[in-house]
Amino acid sequence: MPSPAPSQLPLLDQYGRVGTDLRVSLTDRCNLRCSYCMPAEGLDWLPTPGVLTDDEVVRLITIAVERLGVEQIRFTGGEPLIRRGFAGIVTRTAALKPRPRIAVTTNGLGLDKVAPALAAAGLDRVNVSLDTIRPDTFAVITRRDRLGDVVKGLEAAAAAGLNPVKVNAVLLRGHNEDQAPELLQWCLQRGYELRFIEQMPLDAQHGWSREAMVTADEILASLKLVFDLTQHPDERGSAPAELFLVDGGPATVGVIGSVTRPFCGDCDRVRLTADGQIRNCLFAREESDLRTALRRGADDEEIADRWRAAMWNKRPGHGIDDPSFLQPARPMSAIGG
Ligand code: GTP
Ligand code: 5AD
Ligand code: SF4
Repeated sequence: MPSPAPSQLPLLDQYGRVGTDLRVSLTDRCNLRCSYCMPAEGLDWLPTPGVLTDDEVVRLITIAVERLGVEQIRFTGGEPLIRRGFAGIVTRTAALKPRPRIAVTTNGLGLDKVAPALAAAGLDRVNVSLDTIRPDTFAVITRRDRLGDVVKGLEAAAAAGLNPVKVNAVLLRGHNEDQAPELLQWCLQRGYELRFIEQMPLDAQHGWSREAMVTADEILASLKLVFDLTQHPDERGSAPAELFLVDGGPATVGVIGSVTRPFCGDCDRVRLTADGQIRNCLFAREESDLRTALRRGADDEEIADRWRAAMWNKRPGHGIDDPSFLQPARPMSAIGG
């Protein structure tokens, strides 16, 4: 029997962790087709009536910030920039009190056109996914020949003051596993903070295997052939990325070792899907439906209570190493990473 959730509290779980970082997926659609994420033909997208409206998204964010102690909102997808009304959602989020920090995780397509408007709306910073700086490798991994657009997006984000600009890279055996040093060099020259991510079992095709995954140890070994890396002196806190100083600093590189170096014990995250479900973990197998409550007219406190109850039952860890581990039904693109 799960224990009852305490009321009048922030998003606390039974292991003492507190959810203060809300990741809001605004759509499950995407304009790239990264091979480690979705098949070439795309997926069955969420039906439009089921997707929260802008007003519904802002209402839930408001409850999270005003009643549940959420301090940072990160917008994700699919690809969040393809959501019409995104700038308006950012503006309304930035008007909340206390004002949350606001970030977005994007593939960078179209960012060149909207970066100034998003900065003006109140967006603080961006994380851009970029796995390679070779056009041919980019076209193979993402199945679209759009490297130039991502590069333009990164430049525009930095020019608009959306700092720090972070870059997320997944290394794939046989594609870009040998490209870590050149990607780091490229990011260092431009002032972007690069992080390498271990591939997680969240692809729609269920093609992940531990043997194929490029591990944190391998990533660090390949970087150390070219760079001097030392542990960053700052406290890591709840950040997924373990940071290293490059050649004595101040530049850094990060490694997000979700699988071989899990950080679940310090997790401060909670996720809202585009169709209004709360996920207390990236790998959760159950979700809590806030959309139904919202649409039948529940008041803010009822929604806040449902949200607290959803968090209270968060598991201690993702359990990828347990023999009983099962990949969640939703793929990464419908969770938001
Ligand atoms: P910062 O606040 O800028 O450090 O962002 P972030 O790294 O938390 O977010 P981002 O969206 O850039 O995610 C980078 C990678 O970390 C993605 O692959 C995410 O899926 C992964 N990640 C983010 N949060 C979690 C988490 O709670 N658990 C696990 N296992 N991975 C996570
Ligand atoms: N494992 C790890 N990272 C992934 N991403 C997408 N799918 C996976 C996966 N299976 C990355 C994207 C993006 C971030 C949100 O997560 O490249 O940078
Ligand atoms: Fe789109 Fe991100 Fe999936 Fe690539 S990883 S297809 S950019 S949602």
